[in-house]
Amino acid sequence: MISNSDSGSDFIGRKLEMGQLTAALDNVLSGRGQIVMLAGEPGIGKTRAANELAALADTKGFSVLRGWCYEHGGAPALWPWLQCIREYIETLDAGQLRREMGPGAADIAEILPELTAKLDGLGPPPPLDPAQARFRLFFSITTFFKNASQTQPMLLVLDDLHWADESSILLLEFLTKEIPGTSLMIVGTFRDGKISGRHLLSRTLGELVRERHFHRVHLEGLSREEVGEFIGSRSGIDVPQSAVNTLHERTGGNPLFVGEVVSSVSPEEIALNQDWVSAIPEAVRDAILRRLSGLSDSCNQLLLTASVMGSEFELSSLQQQASEIDEVAFPESLNEPLASRIIGPLGPGSGRYQFSHALIQQAVYQEIPPIKKAQAHAAMAESLEHLHRDSLVQHAGELAYHFAGAQKVLGSDKLVYFPLIVGEQAIEAFSHEQAMVHFNNVLAAKEGMAEDSVIAAARFGLGRAQTAVLPRHELGLAHENLSRAFEYYASAGNTAKIVAIAFEFYAPQLSEYGLRTGGLVEKALELVPADSLDTGRLHAYRGSILGLGQGDFQSARDSLDRTLIVARQEGNSALEIRALITSAQLESWNNHFEDGLAYGLTAIEKAVAASDLRGEVTARYWACLGSFSSGDTKETERQSSIFLESAGRLRDRNWGGGCP
Ligand SMILES: Nc1ncnc2c1ncn2[C@@H]1O[C@H](COP(=O)(O)OP(=O)(O)OP(=O)(O)O)[C@@H](O)[C@H]1O
Ligand SMILES: [Mg+2]
Repeated sequence: MISNSDSGSDFIGRKLEMGQLTAALDNVLSGRGQIVMLAGEPGIGKTRAANELAALADTKGFSVLRGWCYEHGGAPALWPWLQCIREYIETLDAGQLRREMGPGAADIAEILPELTAKLDGLGPPPPLDPAQARFRLFFSITTFFKNASQTQPMLLVLDDLHWADESSILLLEFLTKEIPGTSLMIVGTFRDGKISGRHLLSRTLGELVRERHFHRVHLEGLSREEVGEFIGSRSGIDVPQSAVNTLHERTGGNPLFVGEVVSSVSPEEIALNQDWVSAIPEAVRDAILRRLSGLSDSCNQLLLTASVMGSEFELSSLQQQASEIDEVAFPESLNEPLASRIIGPLGPGSGRYQFSHALIQQAVYQEIPPIKKAQAHAAMAESLEHLHRDSLVQHAGELAYHFAGAQKVLGSDKLVYFPLIVGEQAIEAFSHEQAMVHFNNVLAAKEGMAEDSVIAAARFGLGRAQTAVLPRHELGLAHENLSRAFEYYASAGNTAKIVAIAFEFYAPQLSEYGLRTGGLVEKALELVPADSLDTGRLHAYRGSILGLGQGDFQSARDSLDRTLIVARQEGNSALEIRALITSAQLESWNNHFEDGLAYGLTAIEKAVAASDLRGEVTARYWACLGSFSSGDTKETERQSSIFLESAGRLRDRNWGGGCP
């Protein structure tokens, strides 16, 4: 968590690390963009070091933007980035914003709706398939930061990246590769013990370590001398060396632990005897609880309630939840934790507060007995549901979190409702990995129950998210989910959903699984009006199934031709590109290499015009194969190198190893 106030004169030690950070800052001032990741255990001082750097950058003329990640679900995808962009655009007029965002403004507005209000006449961007749309969004955000840092050097501080959603990490990787020649610096913090080898962040760090402008700084505990200095500055008295030694040994020099222990005993105790040192608990949690036990009962009660709300909370909601404290006494109860800096305001006038450290919130939260916890979440969920009754969708993340915590008391009805919404929102924001978590939660809650509309919706969502991110050998899972949703919607006669699912099978890597739903497509075709866009979509899918799955060339050709007619009539370039690509594949598979090449080349042309990079790469693949098979080695070489270059730009796992 970042608070601007947590920087200043009581900053101890860290000479080496601050030296590295300052050197990186100076490099940025000479147009050599940098990224520094601050790693270390909880409470070691990552956020504090980042804040010190931010204060320094400010004096050097940088514009400093901050974003942080949440432990609990509820935050929208790309949240740390949204916060940075939001903070920045608030300070700009529409003209400068237009210059810095360029055509990418339409993509960014998709995830940041207030941009539409700021930039009049901003239309939606042309539709693309999810993976391609995510690429375009990343590209637009990157271009924006690059342009913005030309006006004024820029420092982005991204805190607690071990909690970041996977889209945020992918964007970090994307942007990092683009910053060498810019005046942009990124400082990220993360708890290194928290990320296992499977965590996307560790994969990204492994990727970035090869970049010359990437630095990883590991924060260790403060030295013995620094701990002495720290206690002195906090307690205001000289502490005997033996006490400092013991404290250093027990806390490993972790500033949060040292600070907590020192705050949990009085200066008199520190001065008079050393019992407090020998009684230092192994875990900081005990030190935190000891500190809290010095506060009044009503204050403790208030903190318990606040901890259920998360590491950040709205004051008005807290007041509503803390019904045992009357209105008059409430402000006073708040003074106590504020004065002892257990909580602090999150920004002037925002009405929002935060625990001064996530560990404090966790320690308090863990103290609540399970059933009380569930009751508190239930009360919170119901009150939020009432409060936001006109805008439930915007608050679905928070509601999903509290309903999940309230399952023991409220049952699982609402438990499945909100994650479905949050999952869809995550897909819209291209955070497929996060979407998978939400949809899987729904399926887990419905385990063993008969197939119904909720399960079908979760399977449809999960299948789409999996198609976008799973490696090729695991795509059978995506296919299974989409097929089962398809079967459910077909039996329920839900045409819109059937068409939507059939269209998902566009993903070329899914076409090989097409057989199973073939019969269902024929059924779906009977349900939609002839020559409609839906018919075109279904025929595109039918073309893949029959031509690529069953080897029925002529029927597939007929279907794809029908799709092409409808797509052109409707001016739907996404559908046209799809039908052209499937045609290229179909013709090549049937040894009609010249026709395959011709379809491939037309698809390339259309995809380039529509800025559809995925379509372009796929089409280039078939065009390559077409020239190769017709024996034109020179043309094949030329096509291959363009294909490889475009596949590199796409950064798609499925095309990485797919080069002919
Ligand atoms: N070098 C330092 N000098 C003085 N105080 C420090 C120093 N480093 C950290 N602190 C204080 O210790 C506490 C914990 O530090 P901080 O919040 O930066 O830890 P963190 O590494 O970000 O932990 P987490 O992983 O939980 O986010 C804060 O109150 C901070 O002000
Ligand atoms: Mg921190």
